Amino acid sequence: MEKSLKTGQIEDLIMYMKSRTNLDLAGYRPTTLRRRISHRMMVRGISDMEDYMNCLYSDPSELKNLTEEITIKVTEFFRDRDVFEYLDSRVIPGMIEDKIEKGQSGLTIWSAGCSTGEEAYSIAMLLAARIQGTGIRARVLGTDISEQACLLAEKGQYPAEKALKIPDEMRNKYIMKNGGTCSICPRVSKLVSFRVHNIFSDPPLKRADMVLCRNVIIHFKHSHREEVLNNFYSALSERGFLILGKSEAVSGDSYGLFRIQSPSIKLYRKIKGSA
Ligand SMILES: C[S@@+](CC[C@H](N)C(=O)[O-])C[C@H]1O[C@@H](n2cnc3c(N)ncnc32)[C@H](O)[C@@H]1O
Repeated sequence: MEKSLKTGQIEDLIMYMKSRTNLDLAGYRPTTLRRRISHRMMVRGISDMEDYMNCLYSDPSELKNLTEEITIKVTEFFRDRDVFEYLDSRVIPGMIEDKIEKGQSGLTIWSAGCSTGEEAYSIAMLLAARIQGTGIRARVLGTDISEQACLLAEKGQYPAEKALKIPDEMRNKYIMKNGGTCSICPRVSKLVSFRVHNIFSDPPLKRADMVLCRNVIIHFKHSHREEVLNNFYSALSERGFLILGKSEAVSGDSYGLFRIQSPSIKLYRKIKGSA
């Protein structure tokens, strides 16, 4: 069915979605779009694109379902454990020392495309342990285009089995279990806030010490990836860190903006004065 979707029809759908939601699908890879639209058509038992457009016009719940289908939300606590181990042992201590040396007390980390918040809370757990007794105030901002994902993130309550991905020491310290659910303890949750934000079109955060944007830009067209990376460049403070997903990389025109520090965990550092 994917191949039978004509480019003009997809463009009509993109325009309609843009007029009704905050999602501009023009930035997403056409193959991803075709696959996701076809899947929704299959779920609704519709084989003709015109019929599917009529379904979108008449049924607001389908607009929501398609948005959810395209903005894939898969995530977990400490996803790619080696990334968090590296940050904990080789990056965060240095960031804290640097702040102390400069006489600064605020440390800001932006988790962009944070889905339901597990990534933001994972980094906040590392920070909570490391800032203790240093006088540093850490703040993690989690953002996502999905309002529903941000609401769940803010709640900070998850099915108990999700906590199994959290290293034992952190789980014992920072997770409260309550029957079938688990929640984040206030010592960690008070460091984190969430906000709806579209990384294509909303102004980037300012003066972040680190941006995590993992498993998000992989779904974007190359031109839009570069736009987003440029936004992260301006969001970062001098020599700030950028972390992408394992299958993502800085490329194209953005190449001159960041220096790779660890290829295996896709950790980059902002190059001074390159913009
Ligand atoms: C696969 S999840 C990644 C979650 C987390 N970063 C991780 O790696 O586990 C991708 C997230 O990107 C969000 N997203 C997609 N397009 C976005 C956009 N234009 N602006 C902000 N978030 C976006 C989706 O809503 C989804 O929650």
